[in-house]
Amino acid sequence: MKKPVNHIKIAMDGPAGSGKSTVAQKVAEKLGLLYLDSGAMYRAVTVLAIENGVETNIPELIKLVKNCHIEFSENGKSIFLNSEDISTQIRTPEVNTLVADIAKIQQIRIEIVRHQRRIGEEGSIIAEGRDLTTIVFPDADYKFYLDASVKERAKRRYEELQSQNVNTTLEFVEEAIRTRDEKDTTREHSPLRTSQDAIRVDTTGKTIDEVVDYIISKVSTENYQHRTEKKD
Ligand code: DC
Repeated sequence: MKKPVNHIKIAMDGPAGSGKSTVAQKVAEKLGLLYLDSGAMYRAVTVLAIENGVETNIPELIKLVKNCHIEFSENGKSIFLNSEDISTQIRTPEVNTLVADIAKIQQIRIEIVRHQRRIGEEGSIIAEGRDLTTIVFPDADYKFYLDASVKERAKRRYEELQSQNVNTTLEFVEEAIRTRDEKDTTREHSPLRTSQDAIRVDTTGKTIDEVVDYIISKVSTENYQHRTEKKD
C-alpha cells in the first residue's frame, strides 16, 4: 500500500558562525526544501528599527513590526521589508551590533515566530536559527544543533568579512561573537539552548560538504513531498 505523502520539517539551531546558514541552504537545495533563515527576520526588524529611528522606542517598534511585511525570495537568499530589498542592509556591522538586543524583546519574538510558523505550513522546509528546535518547531521531524569552537567561528566570520572587503580584525570579530553568544544564551525569552532530542554536530575542522552529507545521511525523505513536486 502506498504511504501517505507528508511535508518534512527540519529544524536547526546553533550559535553565530556555526555554519548553519550555509549548511541549511545546501541541504535545502539538495533535498528540494524551502529554506528559512530566521535570523534574517530579526535582522529585518533591526533594519526597520534603524530606518524609523525607534531602536530604543520599543512600543513604537512593536507597532511597526505588527504592520510590516517581511518576505523572502530566491528560496531565502533575498529578503524584502515592505517590498524593499534589504538583503545587503541586514548584514551591516550596525545591524550585527544591534540585532541581539532587538531579538530579545518578547513581543517581537511572538510576532516573528507566528510568521515563521505560517511559512512552515507552506511545505517541506529546513529552518535555522536559535529557537527553531525548541520553540518554533518543537514538532520538527529532524532536529540538529550545530556548533564549533569560538576561535573557529570567529575565523570563518573574519574570512567572510574579508571577502566582502570589510575592514576589521580577527580579535574584533572574536570579541563580537563572544558578546553575541552571551546575549543569545542568557536572554530571558527563548535563549539559545540545545533541544534534548537534537542531533549535535560539532563542525570544527569539518568542511561544509562534510556537514551537509552527514545531515542528509540522517534524514529519510522517502515518504515526504518535496516542495518542487506538485500536490495532488
Ligand atoms: O543567525 P544570525 O546571526 O543571522 O542571527 C541574528 C541574531 O538574531 C542573533 O543575534 C540571534 C537572533 N536570532 C534569534 O534570536 N532567534 C532566531 N531564531 C534566529 C536569530
